[in-house]
Amino acid sequence: MILYFSATGNSRHVAERIAEATGDVALSIEKSGNEIVLSEGETLGLVTPTNWWELPVLVRRFIRRMTVTCRPAYAFVVATYGSVAGAIGADAKRELAKRGISMNAAFGVKMPDNWTPIFDLSDPVRVAAINEKAERIIDTVIERIKTREQGNHIKYKMPHFVRWFTDPLLEHERQTKYFRVEDSCIGCGLCAAKCPVKAIEMRDKRPVWIVERCALCLGCLHRCPKFAIQYGNNTKEHGQYMHPAYNKVTF
Ligand SMILES: Cc1cc2nc3c(=O)[nH]c(=O)nc-3n(C[C@H](O)[C@H](O)[C@H](O)COP(=O)(O)O)c2cc1C
Ligand code: SF4
Ligand code: SF4
Repeated sequence: MILYFSATGNSRHVAERIAEATGDVALSIEKSGNEIVLSEGETLGLVTPTNWWELPVLVRRFIRRMTVTCRPAYAFVVATYGSVAGAIGADAKRELAKRGISMNAAFGVKMPDNWTPIFDLSDPVRVAAINEKAERIIDTVIERIKTREQGNHIKYKMPHFVRWFTDPLLEHERQTKYFRVEDSCIGCGLCAAKCPVKAIEMRDKRPVWIVERCALCLGCLHRCPKFAIQYGNNTKEHGQYMHPAYNKVTF
């Protein structure tokens, strides 16, 4: 079983490629429920974006409530990331251990960085080149999973204690006051319907952020059919992103 969370398709694509190559099943944590049914000798994989060098809020919450029916024979984590994945391997190892799961291996796949308040994804040629390079990294990760390789193989990894510094940064950025809606909004309600923490409500055909702290997945911003949602001052210029394997509206 390969579980994933994905806001813009990178982690889903990696999970689906691994599942296809290993004869396994890829399942979103938004659909899996909390009880993960594993059979004797089965592998458990978790594919996740990196958020502030650590696990995304939603993935951490999921691990903390997840139960597994049987200990996996091999457990791996794949972190997709845009620049530096940091402490996510150490973080995932600790969180899984609290649930009685021993993480055997962690791998990283560098992909387009959907944190567009900083990173610029407006050049389709550059974005396509990053995704093309990622395919070869995924090939390697698949081979390493097939041989049940052990250890944390994430590049430029950092120790768990960096979370002392990254946690406050993440908490600061999770405030919904940084979101705004432009006039191009057509009131379709997709952003509210698909927000994983129901932080958005439609009022007079306009999204309103009702929960002060969202999960900061940026799914609403990147999947809006009109690119009407912005966060801070730079996202409009930096472009919208969805992995080419998927359609942003039906994702
Ligand atoms: C809030 C937020 C924080 C992020 N922090 C990091 C980070 O610390 N390091 C990094 O390399 N990429 C970071 N990223 C980029 C994502 O991890 C990366 O684009 C990932 O592949 C997105 O996966 P998805 O398409 O499955 O959602 C961040 C993205 C978001 C939205
Ligand atoms: S998804 Fe975009 S267009 Fe649709 S309601 Fe939300 S902001 Fe408006
Ligand atoms: S409001 Fe947007 S960024 Fe926040 S959790 Fe919902 S979809 Fe993700």
